[in-house]
Amino acid sequence: MLTKTVKIDLGERSYDIAIGSDIFALIADIAPKAAFIITDDNVEPYAKAVQEIILGAGANFCEILTFPHGEKTKSYESLQKAHNWMLENNVHRNSIVFAVGGGVIGDFAGFAAATILRGVPYVQVPTTLLSQVDSSVGGKTGINTKYGKNLVGNFYQPKAVITDISSLKTLPKRELLAGYAEVAKYGLIDDLAFFEWLEENAAGVLNFDETAISYAIELSCKAKAAIVEADEREGGKRALLNLGHTFGHALEAAAGYDGSLIHGEAVAIGTVMAFDLSVNMGLCPVKDAQRVRNHFKKLGLPVHAGSINASADELIATMRRDKKALDNKMIFILAKSIGNCFIAGDVNEDIVREILENSLMESD
Ligand code: GLY
Repeated sequence: MLTKTVKIDLGERSYDIAIGSDIFALIADIAPKAAFIITDDNVEPYAKAVQEIILGAGANFCEILTFPHGEKTKSYESLQKAHNWMLENNVHRNSIVFAVGGGVIGDFAGFAAATILRGVPYVQVPTTLLSQVDSSVGGKTGINTKYGKNLVGNFYQPKAVITDISSLKTLPKRELLAGYAEVAKYGLIDDLAFFEWLEENAAGVLNFDETAISYAIELSCKAKAAIVEADEREGGKRALLNLGHTFGHALEAAAGYDGSLIHGEAVAIGTVMAFDLSVNMGLCPVKDAQRVRNHFKKLGLPVHAGSINASADELIATMRRDKKALDNKMIFILAKSIGNCFIAGDVNEDIVREILENSLMESD
């Protein structure tokens, strides 16, 4: 299979995303003299494969720091550990950090790279579908705090993204499915034709048909590139990428980041809620909301918050603290139809509460 390249055009911060099967060897071209690989215990073998390539390309130093998998790694404590490890090993401005893992490792290692010596370059080597289509692209980095997800972080673009779809072969089915919610997001935001393609081809994507999966990743990365290029620091349009995330982040926080509700699952539920909210506000035909719900449900994604132990008001309080909230007002991505989403700042809280209450009461 040929390697595809998607370019992120951001002037001097531009970089390429290489997408293909068994393409770790491309890392040799980056040829760092000193490399710091940050990974998690689920994907250490991939980190070791990357290490071998870097050492084979002549690096003087290439070590791996492994964290436990899961959101809890995005903490101040882990950040200090990563900083100390780099400083103990004489990190310098020409060193390169490699983030080998999913969204947690990508965000975390990116932030560690951004904040050591006022910034050393980093390369994303995403190994989950979610990170390959979303979090490895566009330079969002950060850690979580007790007040919510990603509240401490910055925009710091990687030097390159190496997206090896072979790494998805070892990804647990649940993680693959959760990542799929972020793929569908691109169709739902502004590309009805892509959503229709997904309705036909989701099984191929989820059953690892290489042509289907690489097409879905390429299209997602191109969609994300267009939005990031237009609005790198989320002053406006980039917020569209948060479809389902205002609700989703609050659900994740309520679930306690303990693995009972993973990010893509929360986004799937949040996306269904965003469409339901759009219907209740008289903006979107009910058939479109049902179509989204049915698509996710058919694939096995969660579509309601019935398992979450929190009240609607507690979730609203978390949503008000979301980074996108302005003057304590929640920002939502709403839909006029599938493929036609927009950013809304003035949403009646009573309707939001009703959506949350209904979803919290649902069961399978
Ligand atoms: N994941 C949303 C963004 O990168 O803006």
